Amino acid sequence: MKDEVKDGFEGKDWEEYAKCYDVLNFLVPYRELQEKIAGELGSLSGQKILEVACGTGNLTEILLKRNKRNEFAIWAIDFSEEMLKRARQKCPDGRIHFIRADINERLPFSDNLFDKIVSVNTLYATHSPELVLREFFRVLENNGRLILETPKTGYENGLILKEHCGSRKPDKYWLDAHSSRERERQLISEALGVGNLGEQMMTVAECNRLISKNAEFHFFHRDELRALLEKAP
Ligand SMILES: C[S@@+](CC[C@H](N)C(=O)[O-])C[C@H]1O[C@@H](n2cnc3c(N)ncnc32)[C@H](O)[C@@H]1O
Repeated sequence: MKDEVKDGFEGKDWEEYAKCYDVLNFLVPYRELQEKIAGELGSLSGQKILEVACGTGNLTEILLKRNKRNEFAIWAIDFSEEMLKRARQKCPDGRIHFIRADINERLPFSDNLFDKIVSVNTLYATHSPELVLREFFRVLENNGRLILETPKTGYENGLILKEHCGSRKPDKYWLDAHSSRERERQLISEALGVGNLGEQMMTVAECNRLISKNAEFHFFHRDELRALLEKAP
């Protein structure tokens, strides 16, 4: 994926992203976020869960580990076959149902089906977050719980690198990681060291740079997201 010839990130690009996506598991803030979300979900005992855009199944895998002996069912959906392929390999368990579905369309589930819905880092990439949230509330039980995480306006990949390596340099040192490949490479090597991991993270950074440039993606301030949530049910 070369950004000299591309100026955005399209649906099919998730298939390429899937091939390097799991490098994110080496980043402490990414792992901590997934663990935090799993903690928010709590025990899944006796519940039906919808995991929206499960990617390569990193959260799904954590949920399985935390709920080893519980009876529950997770429907984990994503529209990328490559993402789902990796997720299925990671989580071969009869309690998980991986389904290919596009959340820009009506969800293939009946009303009020789920006790909980979890969606991490995906709402921003949908055509209409408002319509997507409306669908979430349609399939969520009346007293159900929605756990939603989506990158905010002006999010900075460099700050994730800073957090990963525990740097004491000021935030401004880490900003604008996507401004050029050279800058991205310098910050990645500083956070992860030079070598194979840094090289793989550069591939992830290429995807993230394109994502950050996509004018059609929706990054929200907290109050905008709150307003959207209040409007949706
Ligand atoms: C940044 S990844 C997040 C994956 C996972 N939730 C995580 O936190 O690791 C975004 C995911 O959303 C999926 N996705 C994007 N648009 C989608 C859509 N319209 N319908 C279904 N999945 C979508 C992509 O295939 C990708 O797996």
